[in-house]
Amino acid sequence: MAAAIATGREHWNVGEDFAGGSPGEQAACRRLRIRPVQLRSGPHWQFVWELERQDLTKNLPVEEGLTRVGELLGSSFASALLITTEQKLHLTHPPGRLARLRVERVPTPPPVVSHDRAKHREVDARRPWLTALGVTTPEGEVCKGMEAKFRQIHRFVELLGPLVESAGLAGKESGEAGEPLRLVDMGCGKGYLTFAAHEYLQAMVGRTVQTQGVEVRPELVKHSNYVARESGLAGLEFIAGTIAETSVPRVSVLMALHACNTATDEALAVGIAAGAELMLVSPCCHQEVRPQLKAPPVLERVLVHGIFRERQAEFVTDALRALLLETQGYETRVFEFISPEHTAKNLMIAAIKRRTPANDDEARLAAQGLAAFYGVTQQRLAERLGIPLD
Ligand SMILES: C[S@@+](CC[C@H](N)C(=O)[O-])C[C@H]1O[C@@H](n2cnc3c(N)ncnc32)[C@H](O)[C@@H]1O
Repeated sequence: MAAAIATGREHWNVGEDFAGGSPGEQAACRRLRIRPVQLRSGPHWQFVWELERQDLTKNLPVEEGLTRVGELLGSSFASALLITTEQKLHLTHPPGRLARLRVERVPTPPPVVSHDRAKHREVDARRPWLTALGVTTPEGEVCKGMEAKFRQIHRFVELLGPLVESAGLAGKESGEAGEPLRLVDMGCGKGYLTFAAHEYLQAMVGRTVQTQGVEVRPELVKHSNYVARESGLAGLEFIAGTIAETSVPRVSVLMALHACNTATDEALAVGIAAGAELMLVSPCCHQEVRPQLKAPPVLERVLVHGIFRERQAEFVTDALRALLLETQGYETRVFEFISPEHTAKNLMIAAIKRRTPANDDEARLAAQGLAAFYGVTQQRLAERLGIPLD
């Protein structure tokens, strides 16, 4: 069973209900969502107040939760929707007027009630956003031609969980009270992975997730915002703009998958500046470094072959990125994101902020040595970080 209650009054007094809000603070509340969660201490209701700039979450024991709903209906809230596995019940109850109930028979799958959903790494093929994005049918069948995309979404969610845990971002203790986890997806395209990551993190981390997808093509942004709205996904928005010019004051998780050429570097630079605790990039097109490559004598005879040159440029660029991230206090992991049979763009660099970040001089020297070995003097991330390579 899940419920959503729409507000009937303009403002919600945050201080009334949340230790995290300053007493008396007034915030516009658009909607209150309620879902069952199973905590260690027993079944609870999770209340999520959708405020203007953030969501606020509070878990209440079942009895207390029901009492709270009773108090809110007809006073603070004017309408409610209760979703059970068999039907939807629409209640309207404007203050001072009679309540009206409308019942609609709509079978809905039961909700996942586990609060600790970190191990739940399946993407439900029936999610409305997957259908709206043309990946699956409403019955949960993967659409023809979208099998690889669905596998990629799945694989991404699968690897995201352990990395989020390693970065210490899962669980309530990871954020200050009421502090949301902020996810930014740079160059998000149609948003397949943005939707997947947002929803997965919301289920996993036990606190509110606020997600921004950044995309230079406005028509994609418009469509993604439409799908997010229609799918009822709170805290997910898409903005039109370029990665380099996007201002992100604070970020918990930054992802940039298949952002072309130096767009990956721009994304990493934004993430570092915004204090990202976890960054995930899957680079594509390595045009900046390729024309600079000077074959060291030992490689002269082999780098005449275009494909070796290409691969060497990819290796040098991504190795430099990994080292440069280490200079900024990140631990890096480099691995294959998805089997190369599905896509050639399959390398992933994950960077996790160390608990006690320190400037790593050895990493800087290694990056400068590597660049010098291949005659590379310019690399966008090094430039953004002010680390000279020549
Ligand atoms: C290959 S698609 C990848 C989309 C998505 N990240 C994924 O992996 O499914 C790259 C996207 O990045 C966008 N893009 C490229 N350069 C960008 C920039 N500098 N700022 C914002 N978006 C950019 C493109 O318009 C495109 O939609």
